[in-house]
Amino acid sequence: MEQKVHIFDTTLRDGEQVPGCKLNTKEKLTLALKLEELGVDIIEAGFPISSPGDFESVSQISRIIKNATVCGLTRAVQKDIEVAADALKYAVRPRIHTGIGTSDFHIKAKFNATQDEILARAIQAVTWARNFTDDVEFFAEDAGRTEDEYLARVVEAVIKAGATVVNIPDTTGYCLPHQYGAKIAYLMNNVPNVDKAILSCHCHNDLGLATANSISGAINGARQIECTINGLGERAGNTSLEEVVMVIQQHKHLGLFTNIKTQMLNPLSREVSETMRVPVQPNKAIVGANAFSHSSGIHQDGFLKNAQTYEIISPDQVGADGSKIVLTARSGRSALAYRFHKIGYEFNRDDIDALYQQFLKVADGQKEVLEPDLVQMAKAYLSANVTA
Ligand code: KIV
Ligand code: ZN
Repeated sequence: MEQKVHIFDTTLRDGEQVPGCKLNTKEKLTLALKLEELGVDIIEAGFPISSPGDFESVSQISRIIKNATVCGLTRAVQKDIEVAADALKYAVRPRIHTGIGTSDFHIKAKFNATQDEILARAIQAVTWARNFTDDVEFFAEDAGRTEDEYLARVVEAVIKAGATVVNIPDTTGYCLPHQYGAKIAYLMNNVPNVDKAILSCHCHNDLGLATANSISGAINGARQIECTINGLGERAGNTSLEEVVMVIQQHKHLGLFTNIKTQMLNPLSREVSETMRVPVQPNKAIVGANAFSHSSGIHQDGFLKNAQTYEIISPDQVGADGSKIVLTARSGRSALAYRFHKIGYEFNRDDIDALYQQFLKVADGQKEVLEPDLVQMAKAYLSANVTA
């Protein structure tokens, strides 16, 4: 039987940490409703103690979201947890996400503490949070660089204290996919009470491996992935929601599924990009402007014969505008004939051979040959051939 991977969206928290991306309450509410419609299981709405504005946003999101779990982030600090609980008090399904750094870098440099002291603080934080809600997620910050044995001790202890989800963040995006997968497998095999909680992947993209690491985590037993629309997040970003969802959908043999309405992926990507004022790179998987564009002659010829030669996903599956045949100096005759046909000109093979030479001259002089260029070329060709 297929197993569900819960999608935990943190666009409104980790995504919003991107410089210049801060959202006001109205913008957060609008996006939260869209995320719920998209089918995400958990919306991390913010970090309530961080500012009165974020408290208000989490509080208002809690009131309007009816199906998804609404989550608030905290440090392993009592006041943070109390404030988060207050912000979440109207939520139908509230979750407190609390945690602390577990790698030696964090334990020594950030906290000047010992492993045992951090373990005690982790247990304490989960215990405080459980006073407010049954749904408590614990994050072991920098788990990617935390030694497995100690991490397993922490995970076992926080589950015993009542954590229902344990987040294993690769905070610095350091792990390779097989290492991150092995870390999840180690926890699945060595934490005696692991069946009482869900392990979660929260992978950053510093080496461009966030999606691969999250998928590797899911293959090895994690059943929640934390991600953001367009991969927004600290530094090089977080795991991209659209990518992990489509990997899971494309690779059915993994035996996994999500509840995401994939047709909403492109429209929501655009909305997030506009609201947060961060353009999407054109070659971004699934939602980039070129994700369904074909520009070289070899690809265009194959695509026009059968789209599946060069597309593994159809644009309508992910709400994209449609496949595009882009004309550049690398394009071929089939593409040229196709584009003429699209604007109402039917040319035979000899016409196209002649027009193609003209086309190459224009194409060599500019980045892309556009519709007005084609119209001009067609008119010039037809008038030359009628008068001849
Ligand atoms: O990257 C990280 O470790 C985080 C935690 C706060 C979950 O964002
Ligand atoms: Zn993060």
